[in-house]
Amino acid sequence: MILEVKEVSKQFGGLKALSDVAFELPEGQILGLIGPNGAGKTTLFNVINGVFTPEQGRVIFRGEDVTGRTSYEMARRGLSRAHQVVRPLTDLTVRENVMVGACFGRERLGLRAAARKADEALTRVGLIDRSDQPAGNLNVAQKKRLEMARALAAQPYLILLDEVLAGLNPSEITSMMATVRAIRDEGVTILMIEHVMQAIMSISDRLLVLDYGTLIAAGPPKEVANNPQVIEAYLGDPKLTAKLMAE
Ligand SMILES: Nc1ncnc2c1ncn2[C@@H]1O[C@H](COP(=O)(O)OP(=O)(O)OP(=O)(O)O)[C@@H](O)[C@H]1O
Ligand SMILES: [Mg+2]
Repeated sequence: MILEVKEVSKQFGGLKALSDVAFELPEGQILGLIGPNGAGKTTLFNVINGVFTPEQGRVIFRGEDVTGRTSYEMARRGLSRAHQVVRPLTDLTVRENVMVGACFGRERLGLRAAARKADEALTRVGLIDRSDQPAGNLNVAQKKRLEMARALAAQPYLILLDEVLAGLNPSEITSMMATVRAIRDEGVTILMIEHVMQAIMSISDRLLVLDYGTLIAAGPPKEVANNPQVIEAYLGDPKLTAKLMAE
C-alpha cells in the first residue's frame, strides 16, 4: 500500500470535519473521493499532506508513519498536491511557477535541473507554449494545468488532485482526464476529489464517499453508485443525484 489512513479524526471547534476515516490505497491505482459540499474531502487532503495534524489516527505513506509531517516534508517524500483553489504566483512566468514544485520536490533540484523538469511537466499537461508568459495571464483551464504541472514537477509517487476538472468545459474535461490517465500509466498513484460524476466514475479504480466527515461507502464505482446510503447523501442535491443515478 502506498497510503494507509487509519481512523483519522479532525475537528474545527465543535465541528467534526473527519470522524474515524480509514482506507488504503494500493500503488498504481486511481482512487476517487466524492461527497457533498462540506463533507470533509479537502480537509482529508490537508491531513494527508500535512497541512493539519489530526487529533486522532495515523497517516502511513510508503510504509512510514508521516502523521504530523509538514507539506514540505511530504513533498520531499514524494507526495504532492494540486489545490482546489489555484493561486499561482501571478508575476512569475508559468515556467518559474512550475520550477517551484521541482525545487521543493522529491529531488530538491537546483535551478537548471528544475527548469528542465518544469518544461517536461509543462509538455505533459499541454502548457509548454505558455511557459514564458506571466502565470497571471492564464485562463481557468490553463491555471488548473499549471497546478498539475507544479505538482508533477516534484516527481511524486502519489499525487492528490482536488477538483482539477472544476470550471472546465466538456472538451477541456476530456483532455484533462486523458492527462490524468497518462500520469497514472507512468506509475504515479492518484487520489482525486471530483464533483464531475461521470468523469470520476469512469476514471477511478475505486471510489470513496465522504458525508459529514464519515466514510459511508468504498468500492468499485458501479457498486458505490448503487449504494442506498450514497444516493441518500446526495438527495439534498437533485442534480447530483440524477447524475449519480444515470451512471
Ligand atoms: N480551516 C478551517 N477552519 C474551520 N472550519 C473548516 C476549515 N476547513 C474546513 N472547515 C469546515 O470543515 C468542513 C469540511 O470542509 P472541506 O473543505 O473539507 O469540505 P469539502 O468536502 O472539500 O467541500 P467542497 O466540495 O465544497 O470543496 C466544512 O464544514 C468547512 O466549513
Ligand atoms: Mg473541497
